[in-house]
Amino acid sequence: MERLVFCLGAAALLRLLLKWSWRAWCGFRVHVLSRFLQVDLRTYGRWAVVTGATSGIGRAYANELARRGMDIVLISRSAEKLRQVAGDIESRFGRKTRVIQTDFTEGPSIYAAIEGGLQGLDIGILVNNVGMNYSELLSRFLDIPSPDCANHDPGVVPPQMTRLVLPRMIERRKGLVINISSEAGSQPQPMLAMYSATKIFVTYFSRCLDAEYRLRGITVQCVAPFMVFTNMTRHLGVNPLAKRAPEFAWEALNTVGHATFTSGCMSHALQVRHTLTKPTYIVDIMNGIMSMQANRTLTHLHHECNGVSQYKTM
Ligand SMILES: NC(=O)c1ccc[n+]([C@@H]2O[C@H](COP(=O)([O-])OP(=O)(O)OC[C@H]3O[C@@H](n4cnc5c(N)ncnc54)[C@H](OP(=O)(O)O)[C@@H]3O)[C@@H](O)[C@H]2O)c1
Repeated sequence: MERLVFCLGAAALLRLLLKWSWRAWCGFRVHVLSRFLQVDLRTYGRWAVVTGATSGIGRAYANELARRGMDIVLISRSAEKLRQVAGDIESRFGRKTRVIQTDFTEGPSIYAAIEGGLQGLDIGILVNNVGMNYSELLSRFLDIPSPDCANHDPGVVPPQMTRLVLPRMIERRKGLVINISSEAGSQPQPMLAMYSATKIFVTYFSRCLDAEYRLRGITVQCVAPFMVFTNMTRHLGVNPLAKRAPEFAWEALNTVGHATFTSGCMSHALQVRHTLTKPTYIVDIMNGIMSMQANRTLTHLHHECNGVSQYKTM
């Protein structure tokens, strides 16, 4: 009997050791080895298309892709910012650029013009980055303007953009689609309900698409970061766990060819592992505390703003 208990214990320990060794190896390969074994992104095609390319993570991706030898199509809503970012890329990296000015809040009618703007280009990479948060503050569902914002949320834009470039990629049997999701999609996030729900859509959409088209030469990578310093997070102030956007884009692009689902950088991977290994009841308690704190902050701010709740799209 003692021998049996010993064997079962040893088997369980071995299983645990193998599991953790495998995870450690995967993490090492994706976040350390990938720095030295970078995929040559030009093999996917000459042009990369980046949505939301005029600031934050999108701009950092556009710069990094240009630095690695790609010509860039920049898509965003401000013509002035687009001109400035395009000029910057051309002078710093000597790559060609094309700009498409559009507002993703305008719904399905915008895609014909975007398709026209992409006509004739050998597009190897699409970065579905543009995304929005509804408020600089945490908000209850009824405090956001309307669920119609689904027209310009990530649950609609990546599929539409992917439809524009995927057929040509399949014909050439090569292509890379990078969808920027968020860690906010890995667990339910009260006070960020729509954001959290649409991000899990992006994650599932990416993972399904990758399985559907992998054998046709297409890679679909889902990047789900924690916190990156950008306009979207500026109200949160300095935070030791947040990453600067250029460093984030560099690390995240290194993971191409090494992972199809990643948090993008080592620091975020460690934070995610820490969060996901918590038992669900702890996550529920933390969500409850977060919700109570947000309630207090909201009440305080609503007093300060005479009851007018702040609203901002990104
Ligand atoms: N920052 C983070 O911590 C974090 C974490 C996880 C995931 N993400 C995701 O990363 C992506 C980029 O976020 P970010 O933090 O880099 O945001 P950001 O700094 O606010 O940049 C957003 C970009 O999208 C453009 N944009 C916004 N609304 C648009 C619209 N309606 N039509 C066209 N372009 C529009 C902006 O153009 P303008 O310059 O004209 O505003 C800007 O170029 C989002 O999908 C976000 O959910 C961010």
